[in-house]
This record gives sequence, C-alpha cells and structure tokens, in this order.
Amino acid sequence: MTEAENEHPEVTVLLVDDNPQNLKVLYETLKDKGYRLLIANDGEKALDLAHRHQPEVILLDIMMPEMDGYEVCERLKADPETADSAVVFLSALDDLEAKVKGFALGGADYISKPFQSQEVIARVKTHARVIRLERELQAQNRELQSDQARILNSISEGIYGLDENGIIEFANPAAGVIMRSSVEDLIGRNFFETHFSTAAECPDGLPVHATCCQGVAENQRDIRLLRADQTGFPAEYRATPKLEGEDLRGAVVVFRDITAELENEQALEEARELVREQRDQLAHTSRLTTMGEMAAGVAHEVNQPLTAITNYTRVSKRMMSAEHPNLNLLQETLDKIEAQSHRASEIIRRIRRFMKKPATGKDVLSVAALLEDTRQFAEVDARNNDGTIELLIPEDVPDIVADPIQVQQVALNLIRNALEASRDTASDLPVEVSATRAGEGFVRISVRDYGPGLAEDAGENLFLPFYTTKEEGMGIGLPTCRSLIQAQGGEIGFERPEGGGACFFFTLPVADAPAAPSSEPSSAGAV
Ligand SMILES: Nc1ncnc2c1ncn2[C@@H]1O[C@H](COP(=O)(O)OP(=O)(O)OP(=O)(O)O)[C@@H](O)[C@H]1O
Ligand SMILES: [Mg+2]
Repeated sequence: MTEAENEHPEVTVLLVDDNPQNLKVLYETLKDKGYRLLIANDGEKALDLAHRHQPEVILLDIMMPEMDGYEVCERLKADPETADSAVVFLSALDDLEAKVKGFALGGADYISKPFQSQEVIARVKTHARVIRLERELQAQNRELQSDQARILNSISEGIYGLDENGIIEFANPAAGVIMRSSVEDLIGRNFFETHFSTAAECPDGLPVHATCCQGVAENQRDIRLLRADQTGFPAEYRATPKLEGEDLRGAVVVFRDITAELENEQALEEARELVREQRDQLAHTSRLTTMGEMAAGVAHEVNQPLTAITNYTRVSKRMMSAEHPNLNLLQETLDKIEAQSHRASEIIRRIRRFMKKPATGKDVLSVAALLEDTRQFAEVDARNNDGTIELLIPEDVPDIVADPIQVQQVALNLIRNALEASRDTASDLPVEVSATRAGEGFVRISVRDYGPGLAEDAGENLFLPFYTTKEEGMGIGLPTCRSLIQAQGGEIGFERPEGGGACFFFTLPVADAPAAPSSEPSSAGAV
C-alpha cells in the first residue's frame, strides 16, 4: 500500500492491518493529529516500512494471514533500526494470554477491537511522546559517549579501569600502544599478573594493589612494568580508587612509559657532571700554573738569603781560622746569618700560607695590610718584568669582608697582568694599586698600568677561559678572578683610562663591624 504524508511529520505512526476497513478507520482517526502516517496491510510490508522510516509508534494487528502480529513484533525487536518503536497490538482477542504474549515479545501496549477513537488517539500520543523522549535521550547519550571516547582516544597516557580484583575492565588505545598489545587482549586480564613477574608470590605489595583492595590513592615514578611480550619498561602511574557511593569498585590507573624522560634526565645529569668536572679541572689548572710560577719566584727569592748565608758562613770560617779571631765581628756575622735564615723562612712561610690555606669562610680584612702582603708576593714578578708596584691606599678605606687568600689571588693575577703589559713599553711608570670607597657598601680595588692598553674588541673575550694574547699565557687568570670575586659578592671589570694603559678593578663588600668612624684603621692583615 501507500505512504500517507502528513504536514507535521515529526512523529511517524505505522498502521498495520490486513483489513482495509480497519486501516481506513485508523487512518481517519489519526489523520489530522499532526502525525506522519504509514500504512501496511501485511507483515512483510510493515517490516519494510518500519525499517526504512523507524516509526515511533506501530499499531499492529495480531491476526493477519502469512505473518501474524506476534512474528512482526518479534522481527521488529530483532532489528536494531526498529527495536525501539512502541508496538501497540490491536486485536479482537481480548484474552489475558494474548496480551501477556504480546508484552513478552516486547509490545508496549494493547488495544482491544473494536477500538474507541479517543482511546487510540490518547495511547498513540502517550507512546509517541515516550519514544521521542527516549530517542532524544539516546542521541544525547551517544554524543556524550563519543565525546568521552574521543577524549580517551586522544590521551597519550595509558588508562586502565580495574575491578577490585585487578581485572582490566577498560583500557584506552594508548594503554594498548604502551603495552604493545591490542585493547581487546588487555581487557579481561589480571593487571598484576600481566604486568608484574612477582604477582603470583606476593601481590600485596605491588603497585596499585592497595588502591584496588583498600581504596588508597597511589602515585609512583620509575616502577618497572612488564609488557605483554615480557619486555619491561619504567613507568610513572597514578592510581585512584573507583567508588560507587561508599563501595570500592576497583581502581583507575593512569600510566605512561618514562624511558625517554629518564634517558633525558640522565643525559642532563651527565652533562652537568661534565661541566662540574671541567670547572674543577680549570680551577686545578689555574692552581698548578700559579704554583709553577711561584716555584720559580720562590727559588729566586730564597736563593738570595741562602747565597748570603753561604757567604757569611765562609767569612765566619775564615775569621775562626785566624790566630786571634775577632769574636765581636764573628758575633755580628753570625747574627747576619741568623737574620738571613729568618728572611728565607719568612718567604717560605708566606708561600706556604698562600698555597696551603684552604679557602674557608670570610674574614674582616684591612685592605691596606692585605694589599701590602700581596705587593711583597709580587716583588719577584716586578723584578722579572723590570717593573715597580706602587700602593695608593687612603687611610679612610674601610675594612672589607672576604676570604683573604682568594682576594690576594685576584689582586696578584691583576698585578701580574699589569706588570707583564708594562714590560715592553718605554715608560717606567709603576703599576698603581689603589683602593677607594665605591658607593655605600663596597670598596673598589684598582690595578692600573701604563702598558699598551686593551684591544678594542678585547672586551667580550677577556673573561673567557683560554683567551690569551701571550705566548706563554694560559688565559685562565681573568676567568678565575671573575669566579672568585663573584663568589665573594663583588664585581670585576676593566676600564681604558685616559693617559693610556689599562685599569682592572674589583669590588668587595664593606665589613659591617660597628666601628666608630673616627677609630683607628686596623693594621693587621686579618682581624
Ligand atoms: N693589564 C692588561 N693590559 C693589556 N692586556 C691585558 C691586561 N690584562 C689582561 N690582558 C689581556 O687579557 C688576556 C687574558 O688575561 P688572563 O690573565 O686571563 O690570561 P693570560 O695573562 O694571558 O694568561 P695566564 O693564564 O697566565 O694569566 C691577556 O692575554 C691579555 O691579552
Ligand atoms: Mg694573566
């Protein structure tokens, strides 16, 4: 038969009856009620129309030749396209058994013939509304589920839903990728037995176990998990208890493979270690260089008193071999020998103090005393370079807080550079070592020479390790100075002073000692 179109085709109603008269009455009853009406006069046609149009309501006659209403209903319910339609049976069979059978096959309602048009209208209206609402709900559900599925599929972390025994009830695609297994293979397996080799002996202490069995949330990094192929990998996971009201229903485990992260961390740590080693090596090289240079200086300096001692000893022996030795003169000569040996041991003591004293902590230091000590050190260098050193320290320069050995090392490096720069110039002006206040909290110590000065482009390079313009230079003097001064809380820099030459300076913090401004400046090296 034909389809009868309605002007408001939101709800579709299928009328099925082998009797044309009945169909006509049904059609007349419902035709102006805003439905789209379809008509079928046998079971096959009804199934075909229903499959194509998914009517909300099907008014279905039971007694039909070839295929009766029960069979039509059964087949409608078996087809997913039509399973949710509300089937309302129409029959003159008003016995209970027929109704029960109809409901058992999935029928929604039953109207006895001969029917009242008001009853048909009311029931169709109710069922149509219910089915519409149901379909809307299902559509929303599907949307929600596909949203959830999209989210779960796009997450790169693996997600497991476990029941309270650790059986995997849910796994997202990332879990399959990480475990090198299909999601279908993972589902139904025991999480502990699949991912831990020790699960059979002692599952209690295993990760996630407490979450599944006691509802304790867990969070661990660098746990070894086994894949389905028995290879292992380091993982990080968070396990959250799955609760239904008060009841524990297992756990949700979010995990990821951290192999690459660990490798990166290790590479970073190795790089840091390398930097540490190189810095230590640089400092060590710097110390060795200084020690080597000092050794030559020490040999030179100590040689003088030793030569004097040898000479005085010879004189003494000659005096003693005289028939009447002049004991007064001999006494004087022996005093000189004693003085010279004191001088030699003083030199060695100073060197030892410089070399051996570990750089421990800071002291309150007199700038004048510290620089005078440094000048004495640099005497040997001054002689070697045919230069002189002049100290210009005003009396009102405050004491500083610093490590004396480190400050001395810095000053010595700058003085040496200045002496080396002055060596080849015609000028015989001295290297000037001066100290001034720099702002409120700092003292600035400057080492100025009248050498050739600094190249225009030297600025960026000077403090870089191994930058040198000297044949025998290492280029580690200035970088060492910078790291030492920065460690003391000061700054280091250079200027190109008017009148030529170069000026290197560094600052150090003033001591906070509550000394009255009028008090005598301290004269000792370290207070
Ligand atoms: N007072 C100065 N006048 C001119 N150039 C200087 C002066 N001080 C440093 N320089 C330049 O800076 C460079 C780096 O100095 P640095 O003290 O770091 O190394 P170096 O003196 O060459 O070698 P070393 O490691 O033995 O000290 C020097 O080679 C030199 O070119
Ligand atoms: Mg140097």
